[in-house]
Amino acid sequence: MTARRILVTSALPYANGHIHLGHLVEYIQTDIWVRFQKLRGNRCIYICADDTHGTAIMIRAKQEGRSEEALIADMRESHLRDFGGFDIAFDNYGSTHSEYNRQLCYEIWGSLRSANLIVERDVTQLFDPKANTFLADRFVKGTCPRCKSPDQYGDNCDKCGSTYSPADLIDPISTLSGATPEVRSAKHLFVQIEKLHEWLTEWTQSGEHLQDEIANYLKGHFLGEPLRDWDISRPAPYFGFEIPDSPGDYWYVWFDAPIGYIGSTAEWCEKHGEKLENWWRPTGTPAEIHHFIGKDITYFHTLFWPAMLKTAGLRLPEKVHIHGFLTVNGEKMSKTKGTFVQASTYLKHLDPNGLRYYYATKLGSRLDDLDLNLEEFTTKVNTDLVGKVINLASRTARFVEQTGLSNAYPDDGGLFRDAAGQAEAIAAAYEACDFNGAMRTIMALADRANRYVDEKAPWTLRKDPSKATEVQDACTVTLNLFRQIAIYLAPVLPRLAAQVGQLFQQPIEKWEDAQTPLVGTRVTKFEHLMKRIELAQVHAMIEEGEQAAAALEATAAPASQWNDGPEPVAAEPLVVEHCTIDDFVKVDLRVARVVAANEVAGADKLLQLTLSLGGEGTRNVFAGIKSAYKPEDLVGRLVILCANLAPRKMKFGISEGMVLAAGAGGKEIFLLNPDTGAKPGHRVH
Ligand code: MSP
Ligand code: ZN
Repeated sequence: MTARRILVTSALPYANGHIHLGHLVEYIQTDIWVRFQKLRGNRCIYICADDTHGTAIMIRAKQEGRSEEALIADMRESHLRDFGGFDIAFDNYGSTHSEYNRQLCYEIWGSLRSANLIVERDVTQLFDPKANTFLADRFVKGTCPRCKSPDQYGDNCDKCGSTYSPADLIDPISTLSGATPEVRSAKHLFVQIEKLHEWLTEWTQSGEHLQDEIANYLKGHFLGEPLRDWDISRPAPYFGFEIPDSPGDYWYVWFDAPIGYIGSTAEWCEKHGEKLENWWRPTGTPAEIHHFIGKDITYFHTLFWPAMLKTAGLRLPEKVHIHGFLTVNGEKMSKTKGTFVQASTYLKHLDPNGLRYYYATKLGSRLDDLDLNLEEFTTKVNTDLVGKVINLASRTARFVEQTGLSNAYPDDGGLFRDAAGQAEAIAAAYEACDFNGAMRTIMALADRANRYVDEKAPWTLRKDPSKATEVQDACTVTLNLFRQIAIYLAPVLPRLAAQVGQLFQQPIEKWEDAQTPLVGTRVTKFEHLMKRIELAQVHAMIEEGEQAAAALEATAAPASQWNDGPEPVAAEPLVVEHCTIDDFVKVDLRVARVVAANEVAGADKLLQLTLSLGGEGTRNVFAGIKSAYKPEDLVGRLVILCANLAPRKMKFGISEGMVLAAGAGGKEIFLLNPDTGAKPGHRVH
């Protein structure tokens, strides 16, 4: 069989945020698939880049008082560090802000122009006169025109769910500057993808390139009616590439972002003396392109992107593999709950192998969301990886350190041969992205190996000097079964594979290595690859996530505001998080008296309060009320305290509760005032 040539991409992460556990679902999934292909002897390259353009980056750079280039350079470094920490091994990691990319944008734009797909139209949009920029919908807030809820974003209302144009908002304000936006009109360029409707229907519905769920979704939501023209330009100022034949206009970030896949390949080709057309032109050497993405960016990758490639005469993806979203403990990742964990925070507390394995057990070829259940995570890593796999070696390797493996492979009742016979089934599961299926088969093999070694009990045999050969044989079998498992797990756990290579001084290089047992080989000292995880480590990680979120809250806008523009994405059902009555009765509200109040050195918003709860001692609480209260005015007065809030470590000390106040912020913060007959310590009903 000749080796396939496969180019694999993950979505290009935005340069305006750090990598978190949600992103890692994708990068780990892709990395496993790439490593699998390489192990199978296919020619496979893993291409990615930072997605650097757009309003969000521009605004952020301005706020931080530095250039966009400086900002994206920093983020790139941080992304690469995070990916490296999880053993995600790109063959090339480029940037959409590169000359390679600019050139390719010019070429593809030229093709769209020649195909007569570009039209001009005026667009009215809100403009921020203070920040001197047009405002993407997410940068405008105001009162919902339908249900009149205040503080809603410019594209839809999270209270009543209606969608509207930002110009319809009542009393709109720009979240960038606080200014009242003006309605202005500007010329935009559009791609008429409706002209490719018929071809797109054929391509998406062929059953070859997309998961069935996705094909049906596209058919049901978009392909049943004319496709809307795609707004592809933004007027200056905008951080991106200026459109060569339309000065003053810039390509919208989603135009040059997917082209970044090609730009990054071009960079790789230059480094490796290869020709770009052999990867991206259908006339070049045969090759397959595989994109891995999350479901939120389906539209871009299954309609716009194929339309652009087709028009430019470029190679179309063989497959777009789409995965669901990560939830933590059954809920959306949440900053305040500390479950919005950054990659770097995870690495401070836990081993990357654990997450790689856990995600592998959760990933199938379908689009379901996957849940990181922290207890299950701990149990799986401990039971499967440490208990079933690593243990095989840690219980036997040292008994053959002196002798090496037996010279002939002992009779194992067919265990090794059976497991070798599963190689193709496991490979098929990896190929189909059914990692969950692959993990189950592999763990069943580990169970059998454990039964074998438990029955043989070389640790008992050892006590009888006449059984030295039996000990060596039992360990030879166990270690070979262990090595076979490590080969099957190599795409998921490259560090384990490397370590097993060292153990027998024979690197694991190909999938077929699992077909032949090692005999007569020396065995070096076995270093424990992974220790058991304690739930406390997981808790420490979540706690740090919580603190990071609290710190962020005080300084920056939430990440959701950093998204660009109104674009059709997979429609998510509206989710309202309710606080149930059961949740509510858990809150212990008490009357407390302020016995001391002080400014906090270095904090702009906080006051430090010492609160007396009557007979129950005092509490130290930090409250963000400095803008409305002077410390000396607070001493002696009564406030309402949430007394059973988990203590939180802040930069300035530990806060042991929260003081209740109402109001819009700034000067308008009103401490709740229990009635004057109340006594400190009393519960509030
Ligand atoms: N920059 C765009 C992609 C451009 S591709 C030409 C983007 N960036 S992103 O940083 O927001 O997301 C990168 C990838 O991570 C996307 O495929 C996205 O679906 C995925 N994920 C981001 N958060 C995720 C979860 N919580 N769960 C699973 N995947 C998630 O989109
Ligand atoms: Zn509303």
